[in-house]
Amino acid sequence: MSTIKNICCIGAGYVGGPTMSVIAQKNPNINVTVVDLNTQRIADWNDSDLNNLPIYEPGLDAVVGEARGRNLFFSTDVDQAIADAEMIFISVNTPTKTYGSGKGMAADLKYVELCARQIAKIATTDKIVVEKSTLPVKTAQAIKSILENTGNGVNFQILSNPEFLAEGTAMTDLESPDRVLIGGDQTKEGQQAIQKLVDVYAAWVAPERILTTNIWSSELSKLTANAFLAQRVSSINAMSELCEATGADVNEVSKAIGMDSRIGPKFLKASVGFGGSCFQKDILNLVYISKSLGLETVAQYWEQVIIMNAHQRSRFAKNIVKTLYNTVSGKKIAFLGWAFKKDTNDTRESAAIYVADQLIDEQAEIHVFDPKVKASQMYSDLGYLQSRSEAENSAALTVENDPYTAVKGAHAIAVLTEWDEFNTYDWQTIYDNMNKPAFVFDGRNILDADKLAKIGFQYQAVGK
Ligand code: NAD
Ligand code: UDX
Repeated sequence: MSTIKNICCIGAGYVGGPTMSVIAQKNPNINVTVVDLNTQRIADWNDSDLNNLPIYEPGLDAVVGEARGRNLFFSTDVDQAIADAEMIFISVNTPTKTYGSGKGMAADLKYVELCARQIAKIATTDKIVVEKSTLPVKTAQAIKSILENTGNGVNFQILSNPEFLAEGTAMTDLESPDRVLIGGDQTKEGQQAIQKLVDVYAAWVAPERILTTNIWSSELSKLTANAFLAQRVSSINAMSELCEATGADVNEVSKAIGMDSRIGPKFLKASVGFGGSCFQKDILNLVYISKSLGLETVAQYWEQVIIMNAHQRSRFAKNIVKTLYNTVSGKKIAFLGWAFKKDTNDTRESAAIYVADQLIDEQAEIHVFDPKVKASQMYSDLGYLQSRSEAENSAALTVENDPYTAVKGAHAIAVLTEWDEFNTYDWQTIYDNMNKPAFVFDGRNILDADKLAKIGFQYQAVGK
């Protein structure tokens, strides 16, 4: 059993919230306090109605419902939680830098550094500081330097414990992880700290799935895992264009290669392009690190994964314009889905944003329905691109609460997220209410092509 009695997690986001909920659920003897500067986010985590949690993640409400108030707490009192804890997780955001050197590539570590400085200021007892955020390799060195040079003379051990959960399946990923990775110093104190974190996970994870390494391997493994996963998506997406040009079917190609046990069947689904807060950011970070080390060829190799992804999004939008007789000006185009994947309300780097932006440039009128994404989020996503004014974005994009209203009178439907419910719609009614010819551009390859063709749709899917 763990000797840790109090855990603090700084950052109550998509990682901090679910991860700590599961740690608390599985370790009823440990008090887990998740803190954040964002008061609204913390209020939402404490909402008595579990439907109002700030993150939509299947199964999360049940775990929060079980542990919250027992040994799981959400608070804005960062200092108190740091003071009380023996182990502190840093789970704050590490976005791509938008200024200065490394702009557009390097990870912005200002939030992580702020956490380190705050821990150093508050701590009057020894602490184990755990990097849960995804960080460039060697960040632990910077955190250590801040803690040791600005602290109150207490001992700090720094561990790297990257998170591998994927959104939409976070709870099952946390419940049964492929592996838990913990990196730490090779010293006696480092090994003791590693063991304390191993004990926290050992409450529910089998020992053979808890992997311990040196700290740099752990930091770098997280970037490597995301780079490999994203590379598979870009690889199959590259093949999807070749399929479209040759009459091969990308689903058949995926199946055929995935049955080779050396390749494996997962992550071979061609799509309009990967999104999410991690893949692009982490690969750019890898590219930046490689460049900084003078490894130009390595940097160029990984950069292609991003270039391919941007190309895939763009050619999806271009194909819509081309198919609709080379103009979408004044035409209604319905989007089914805005989230970057199903079962999440997260929209960061979603392909839908970029496809919408490109079609709005062509003067299309976009009507979006997504079962979980709020209208304010969609406008904020478009605003972030800075392509046009708020008023122009509001005029060009309409958010609908009902899918049948979204598609009514549309010239085309674009499927941008693979929500299961899209397959259950009454597609005959949808067809009857659309402009003819009625086009469907399936960016997720999820609809029944034969069924739609029989109804009369002009159906196209990525890679077919
Ligand atoms: P997020 O933006 O959802 O949450 C981060 C939270 O940290 C925000 O609520 C923010 O207010 C808070 N914060 C920032 N600075 C703070 C400070 N100084 N004090 C207190 N709170 C502060 O981000 P996320 O998606 O949870 O990602 C967090 C980290 O985990 C990133 O490094 C990311 O790369 C990594 N990661 C994310 C995923 C994922 O699927 N989202 C998966 C694995 C790893
Ligand atoms: C990813 C990693 O999978 C996870 O391990 C890491 O911790 C965080 O980053 P996430 O971004 O939440 O997780 O979702 P993921 O399932 O990896 O999907 C990323 C994007 O790739 C989505 O837009 C998804 O639709 C797309 N994708 C995924 C494909 O287009 N095809 C596939 O075969 C798989």
